[in-house]
Amino acid sequence: MSLGRGGALSTPFDVVTGAFSYTGRAIAARLLAGGREVLTLTRRPGLATPGLRSAPFSFDDPTALAASLEGAETFYNTYWVRFQHGEVTFARAAANTRLLLAAARQARVRRFVHISVTKASERSPLPYFRWKGVLERDVAASGLPFAIVRPTLIFGSEDILVNNIAWLLRHAPLFLVPGRGDYRVQPVSVEDTAALAVGAGDGETLDAAGPETYTFAELVRLVARAVGARARIVHAPPGLALRLGRLAGRLRGDVILTDEELTGLMRSLLVSHGPPTGRASFREWLDRSGETLGRRYVSELRRNYAHAAIADHDRPRGATSERAHLQEPARADRAVGGRQG
Ligand SMILES: NC(=O)c1ccc[n+]([C@@H]2O[C@H](COP(=O)([O-])OP(=O)(O)OC[C@H]3O[C@@H](n4cnc5c(N)ncnc54)[C@H](OP(=O)(O)O)[C@@H]3O)[C@@H](O)[C@H]2O)c1
Repeated sequence: MSLGRGGALSTPFDVVTGAFSYTGRAIAARLLAGGREVLTLTRRPGLATPGLRSAPFSFDDPTALAASLEGAETFYNTYWVRFQHGEVTFARAAANTRLLLAAARQARVRRFVHISVTKASERSPLPYFRWKGVLERDVAASGLPFAIVRPTLIFGSEDILVNNIAWLLRHAPLFLVPGRGDYRVQPVSVEDTAALAVGAGDGETLDAAGPETYTFAELVRLVARAVGARARIVHAPPGLALRLGRLAGRLRGDVILTDEELTGLMRSLLVSHGPPTGRASFREWLDRSGETLGRRYVSELRRNYAHAAIADHDRPRGATSERAHLQEPARADRAVGGRQG
């Protein structure tokens, strides 16, 4: 078994992408706490801890990628990109996801647990949700026993979105809520998301959605109260809120919110139609986290898009253009984040 820089694992073990990042970290922690050994695929290999080894994604070397998975039982896939920026596109992330699936099949991994998003649909006009729909179909058609977990908005430590709402509320005199703010979100904790992923049964597709649903305006007010922020919360036309959000992002050298994310939010795509599957209360988490939440700005670009090397590393071998290794979706995706960054 080849594990890149990670060293040998006793089998059986599970594979988790991104165990040093957000959702993958919670999944790995849950598996480790249950006595499992974990191999994580990551762009940042080498940060191994007891029971947890790492290997690079090796998208440029599918044979090495498959070899690194030999002996694995379950593959937990969190790999995705939040928005398109420069060379990092949904199309490429989808191609890479297919490489992960193919490697898992080649290595005879026993099952594949895929993290998607609520309301993923191949017919969505929003590229993020559309690509997620395409990949759900790919996972289901892979021939591997699979489960699909579709989170809403994931909250927890290391989160970016809620943290940066809190940061803005702490540091700006004004917080603009786009439109009426009556669109809904149903946040789910990162720990609940991990528990659902680890506990999902074969063939199951389920939403990861918490017990509380808030309008976006309510959510912003809750965050403001929890962190003791005095920013005035006012409603503004979505276009204006987005433009100011872009400006604030540019000042931070980041992308705070893309127009696609805002559209998804305003269409209440981050809620579930089914009963809640997560147990942790967003409100209670806020009460516990208010002291630290938003004290430090967390840059998505710095965390996930900073190094050109990362983008190059992500490119499948021989790929000359996005279309070269893609079958769908038919519509060209707009580089939402790229235009804004
Ligand atoms: N966060 C949410 O609120 C939320 C809501 C709904 C659905 N989801 C879905 O849940 C899954 C996990 O999301 P997450 O927020 O927990 O993500 P994350 O931990 O930041 O990243 C997940 C994985 O993708 C890799 N990755 C992230 N951005 C990348 C980039 N720009 N270029 C190359 N690789 C990148 C990370 O690599 P490294 O290991 O090297 O860091 C990691 O392995 C994703 O499929 C996401 O679509 C998230």
